[in-house]
Amino acid sequence: MNRLEFSRNLARDAGRLAHSKFGESAASMKGRHDVVTAMDREVERFIRSAISARYPDDSIIGEEEGGTSDGERVWLIDPIDGTANYARGIPHYCVSIGYLERRVSTVGVIYDPSHDWLYAAARGEGATCNGAPLAVSPQTDLDAATVECGWSTRRSASDYLALVGRVMCAGCAVRRVGSGALGLADVAAGRSEAYCELHINAWDCAAGILLVREAGGHTNDFFAGDALAAGNPIIATNHALSAKLSSLIGIAITS
Ligand code: IPD
Repeated sequence: MNRLEFSRNLARDAGRLAHSKFGESAASMKGRHDVVTAMDREVERFIRSAISARYPDDSIIGEEEGGTSDGERVWLIDPIDGTANYARGIPHYCVSIGYLERRVSTVGVIYDPSHDWLYAAARGEGATCNGAPLAVSPQTDLDAATVECGWSTRRSASDYLALVGRVMCAGCAVRRVGSGALGLADVAAGRSEAYCELHINAWDCAAGILLVREAGGHTNDFFAGDALAAGNPIIATNHALSAKLSSLIGIAITS
């Protein structure tokens, strides 16, 4: 079993564990509009112990327990992305597992338990959902494009409103549904033309970035600088609108 196959099995098992307490796991606040449930912690422990048992020399960075990127092989895990949705019984959340080698996205898997959709990508091998190939939207017209603008309290409300204003005034429809990982999976699957956010953490987007690239889309150089520890802005788009959306959103696309 290679790392892709291992990640697919692990994400599905972790998602089934999360879904056993969907809408029922005890929730508390880590900060303003920042929810955590008991199941976030349980699922992260489950994923960490499976990775450590199989790949004991790899580093692991997770949303709930942190970690550092020692060495060349790093796993980035979000046990439940879209925790606010999960805690309130809104079926839009997922498990996200990304794997980097020398800072290059190499494997990315996202499992959406509410739909039993397993997204998977390996570098140079394409992206799939439940085994079917994914391709970004062919849309060329901003007046028919949908852009998801992710939001958290890590950036100011005025900066977020300015971003949404630019995107809407250029003609796009805007949405925000509370899971960065699934927002990126939607771009890879051609269900929206772009996902962007002024700041996102690496565990939220490591898997989704590879899905988008392998589905023929484009992203910024998210892993530059201190991204693994401190996050970065993100943009991920289809091919046809990448130049227009990059200049509108104000984040440079590099690959
Ligand atoms: C959050 C979600 C949200 C995104 C935030 C993330 P969480 O992750 O992905 O959509 O806008 O940046 O922090 O807390 O649900 O794992």
